[in-house]
Amino acid sequence: MNLILEAIQKSAIRIKKAIDVKDIGYSQEQNSSGETQLQLDIQSDLIIEEELSRVVGIHTIASEEKEHPMVLNESGHYCIAFDPLDGSSLVDVNLSVGSIFGVYEGEFSPSKMVASCYVVYGPRVELVFADKENVSLYLLQNGEFEFVKYLSLNKRGGIMAPGGTQQFWAPYHKAMIDSFFTRGYRLRYSGGMVPDLHQILLKGGGLFSYPGASDKPEGKLRMLFEVFPFAFIFERAGGKAVDGLKRVLEKEPRHVHDTSPCFFGSTDEVNEVVSVYTAAQ
Ligand code: F6P
Repeated sequence: MNLILEAIQKSAIRIKKAIDVKDIGYSQEQNSSGETQLQLDIQSDLIIEEELSRVVGIHTIASEEKEHPMVLNESGHYCIAFDPLDGSSLVDVNLSVGSIFGVYEGEFSPSKMVASCYVVYGPRVELVFADKENVSLYLLQNGEFEFVKYLSLNKRGGIMAPGGTQQFWAPYHKAMIDSFFTRGYRLRYSGGMVPDLHQILLKGGGLFSYPGASDKPEGKLRMLFEVFPFAFIFERAGGKAVDGLKRVLEKEPRHVHDTSPCFFGSTDEVNEVVSVYTAAQ
C-alpha cells in the first residue's frame, strides 16, 4: 500500500506542474461520459497510468478518461479506479481541482475497498489518504508530502454544497435544502467535487449533495471514480455517505462508468436526508 501511496504522490507532483504550465486547450476527444476531454485531463491520465504501472502489486486500473479497465500486471492483486483531474474545466478560471483514487483488493466492488485518496490542487497541494484505520491529511512542501494531521468530522456541521440544477430537483429535495438554509447553513459550492468535499471535511462537517433529478435520474457523479472513494473517506472520518436511501458503499455498479445520486456529510445532516427521502417514497 505504501508503494501505491508513493505512486499517487509522484503523480500529484507531476500533475501540479502540468496545471501550472499547460495551455489547457480542448482536444478533439470525448471521454466515456461524452464530455470533451481537455488536454490536461489526458495528460493527467497518462501521468497516473505511468506511475501506477511501476507498482507490481497493481493488477488493473480503471480511469474516468478510459472506456475500459486496463490490466497492468496479472500477478498483482490491487485494482485502482481514478479520476485523473476532476473538475478540470475549473482550471481556466483558476479554481481548485483534484485527482481521486479508490483502491480495491481483487475486484472493483465497494466491499473490496481497502483505501482511498484524493489530491486537491489549490493555492496549496494537499492529499487526503484513508485506509481502514485513519484519514490522514498531507501537505506538499518542498517537493514532498508531509503528514499534517488525522481528520474527523463533527456530528453536525454548518456548510451546504447543493449540486445539480435546481430547476430539475424533486420538490422534497428542494424543501430539504431550503430548510437547511433557513437554519443557518452557509452555501459553499465551487462546482469542483474535490475542493467542495475537502472544505466540508476540513471545516468539521455539513452536507454535499448531488441528487437524482428529472434531467439526471441517476445523478452525475460516477460511482467508481468519484462516489465510492469519497464515501470511504467520509465514513472513515466518522460521517456518512448515502444515495438518499442507503449507503452508497452497498451499491454495485454494473458498468465502470455508472453514476449514482449521492450525499456526503456529517451524521446528523445525512440522517436527515435519509428520513426525508424515505418519507418521499
Ligand atoms: O464530475 C465533475 C464535476 O465537475 C464534479 O467535480 C462536481 O461536483 C460536479 O461535476 C459539478 O456539477 P454541476 O456543474 O452540475 O454542479
